[in-house]
Amino acid sequence: MELLNIRNLSIEYKTKSGTVKAVEDVTFEVGEHESLGVVGESGCGKSTLGVAILRLLPPNATTKGEIIFNGKNLLSLTNEEMRRMRGKEIAMIFQDPMTSLNPIMRVRDHFFELFKVHEPSMKKEQMIKLASEALESVGTDPKRLDNYPFEFSGGMRQRVMIAIAIALKPKLLIADEPTTALDVVVQEQIMQVLKNLMKTKNMSLILITHDMGIVSELAEKVTVMYAGNLVEHGEIKEIYNEPKHPYTKMLLESIPNIKLDDMELKYIPGSPPDLKNPPKGCKYYPRCPYTKEICKTKEPKTVKLGDRKVKCHLYSGG
Ligand SMILES: Nc1ncnc2c1ncn2[C@@H]1O[C@H](COP(=O)(O)OP(=O)(O)OP(=O)(O)O)[C@@H](O)[C@H]1O
Ligand SMILES: [Mg+2]
Repeated sequence: MELLNIRNLSIEYKTKSGTVKAVEDVTFEVGEHESLGVVGESGCGKSTLGVAILRLLPPNATTKGEIIFNGKNLLSLTNEEMRRMRGKEIAMIFQDPMTSLNPIMRVRDHFFELFKVHEPSMKKEQMIKLASEALESVGTDPKRLDNYPFEFSGGMRQRVMIAIAIALKPKLLIADEPTTALDVVVQEQIMQVLKNLMKTKNMSLILITHDMGIVSELAEKVTVMYAGNLVEHGEIKEIYNEPKHPYTKMLLESIPNIKLDDMELKYIPGSPPDLKNPPKGCKYYPRCPYTKEICKTKEPKTVKLGDRKVKCHLYSGG
């Protein structure tokens, strides 16, 4: 069964200098216990999409479409209903961990704050028990509940963030670049933590990252975003073996490859468009090696190729 259905989701930010089309007509679903990677370069709308699910976008954002979670459209819940959802049913690890942990609050109080919102009558012993279990499940000594966030390394802080997010056993965890700020070794440790959680908890995961390598390690499905559009979606194995969208191909070619005879790392030339004034037609055409005339004038439709979705004129018969 699908846990999350995102239907025709569009999000715009109003700014003094124009309207940013951060997410455009995005449709995908996440099944129970499934892990979905959302990848794309900086500014493609990944965080906007994640934050929109929790309805925590800033006031200059407008959201259209449907976000159906467990049969309910989150966009039509009251603020109070949504507040009860956050942290309990859907949890998020935000892109910047330092803004999410309060440096002058002990780790335990971060947990307690969450528990009090959802279960005001919970006893202190129970709160300590739940918090300790959560810390243990991310490989952190529960003794550290008495520490302050500034006493932790970056990797430890990220573990704490994950522990808080999963403490109330949410059905969906959204992790926005959970390893980006960390060195490679710690990055791998956090990946292991997430992998273990996926195995042991009844949870679905949306993993937001710019790194296709990380997605391939952790996710079963992947949504590739470019300039606010979903350009390709499907099983990670299939996409990895045979990427269809030219942008996906480029992303895959830019994964570091340690094989000695293949040391040349391709980088993606150019950069994503200004989302206040994106190109007409396909947004990727200025960087695409396969551009045809139609790409410059007509936006491609999303077509289904088996289980795969691709938004590209190469496949739309155009
Ligand atoms: N509060 C805001 N007001 C106006 N524009 C915004 C706001 N937040 C984000 N944007 C714009 O929306 C677009 C998508 O941003 P978003 O942060 O979702 O991208 P991202 O894919 O998460 O990028 P990154 O990989 O750098 O985290 C960008 O063009 C960004 O500048
Ligand atoms: Mg982001």
